[in-house]
Amino acid sequence: MRVIILDSAKDVAQFAANTIIDTVNRKMRPTLGLATGSTPIEAYRAVIDAYKTNRVSFAQTVTFNLDEYIGIKEEHVQSYRYFMNQHLFNHIDIPLSNTFLPGAASLNEAQLHKNAHQYEEAIKKAGGIDLQLLGIGKNGHIGFNEPTSSLRSRTRIKSLSESTIEANKRLFKNGEYQPRLALTMGIETILESRQLLLLATGSTKANAVKDMVEGPLTAMCPASALQLHQDATIVIDSEAADKLVMKDYYLWCEQQRQDLE
Ligand code: F6R
Repeated sequence: MRVIILDSAKDVAQFAANTIIDTVNRKMRPTLGLATGSTPIEAYRAVIDAYKTNRVSFAQTVTFNLDEYIGIKEEHVQSYRYFMNQHLFNHIDIPLSNTFLPGAASLNEAQLHKNAHQYEEAIKKAGGIDLQLLGIGKNGHIGFNEPTSSLRSRTRIKSLSESTIEANKRLFKNGEYQPRLALTMGIETILESRQLLLLATGSTKANAVKDMVEGPLTAMCPASALQLHQDATIVIDSEAADKLVMKDYYLWCEQQRQDLE
């Protein structure tokens, strides 16, 4: 695991944007795995800026999002499809037909299983994911793989935990229906991406970051599964790094790397 500690959330966003841009510019037909939530919004803004100043084109890019709420139609303002269109896709030159989220609008279980399977197949058909962007929940979830998720899980239905429902409450208006189920890529699906980039900012993520990086590999902290990946980078601001016991070592490692580069 490479742990990069930067001064501010803005630096984290710029780092993430640069990594996305480099990947897209390097590949003929890049495949990105994307996340929603508050954390990547600034990074998406920086990506849009890069597109508008002709530093990158997404005309050949294919994207797969980590998750989508079950029972919410794509056009609904709370859907992750709506989020992605609003925060990224509508502002860059990616054909919308190249952007995929798990098909979760149905409430029919058999249909959802079928959609989950098709999502896995679509990722395979696209040649796998080159770069998967991730956030982390306060409880250590990645995607909607809540604590106790199987480390071998694949795209499937997950019940959101109370802590996730509580954390995401802020995004729903008073009285607005808040889904409790989602279709999410599994932990094994995520680990199959060739490169992982997890972003975390702010003190509310400090415990989860510590468990992910320095805790045991355990389904109680799904993000700890990143310890198994050969190319996983964790980019965090100083607040999110606050509980790391080996913080000085990670900073030292990055200094040494700069000498190499
Ligand atoms: C969203 C997702 C979630 C979020 C996590 C952090 O697609 O996969 O795992 O990354 O809940 O959310 P924020 O960034 O809002 O703190």
